[in-house]
Amino acid sequence: MSAPSATLIAPSILAADFSRLAEQVRAVEAAGADWLHLDIMDGHFVDNISFGPALVATVRKLSQLPLDVHLMIERPGHYVPRFLEAGANTITVHVEPEAKHDVAETLASIRAARCRAGLALNPSTPFSAVAPHLAGIDLLLVMTVHPGFGGQAFRPETMEKVREANRSRNNGATFDIEVDGGINAETATLCAENGANVLVAGTSVFRSPDYAVAIQQMRGR
Ligand code: DX5
Ligand code: ZN
Repeated sequence: MSAPSATLIAPSILAADFSRLAEQVRAVEAAGADWLHLDIMDGHFVDNISFGPALVATVRKLSQLPLDVHLMIERPGHYVPRFLEAGANTITVHVEPEAKHDVAETLASIRAARCRAGLALNPSTPFSAVAPHLAGIDLLLVMTVHPGFGGQAFRPETMEKVREANRSRNNGATFDIEVDGGINAETATLCAENGANVLVAGTSVFRSPDYAVAIQQMRGR
């Protein structure tokens, strides 16, 4: 399968002003966002606490865009049903042992519910950790920062894993390649050149003076 054509932009709600959430969600949708990225943090798998299924259900009511739910939590398999009910279109879980789950079982439970299954790996995790699961996923998330906070600096060494994933895709796998963390107009170009087709962006969208310009610049137009 050749690389997907259009680069998809998924603004990360973590960077939005929660006191104006409805307005912000509608503004990025009007500005051309393709998906909405929702970061779920439990204070255990990562050293931060964000939000849960209730906020995902709220965003579901505000937008028809695909909801790309990123679970940075322990025991994600236990919580998958609640995010399915909240309206997630893609649910991504982490491969690291600190997530404390049976990765193949969790991915299968997501797909069994006709939801897209994603698998994420941190910058310090080798590609070999996800290789056994590539046939069972719809999306591979290569973290370009260590997870837990927005506004961090992009880590260019992670591009080697994007290239490895793209090689796997050239051998028949059909998953999207998503990058997340420190994505802006400059790093977006580098990621797309290496094979990523979905770009998550928090700070570079929600802190920009013009969401449409920021999104177009990352799409390379
Ligand atoms: C970090 C999250 C990212 C983060 C991106 O753990 O997974 O989605 O919100 O934010 P920026 O684009 O500001 O790095
Ligand atoms: Zn994320």
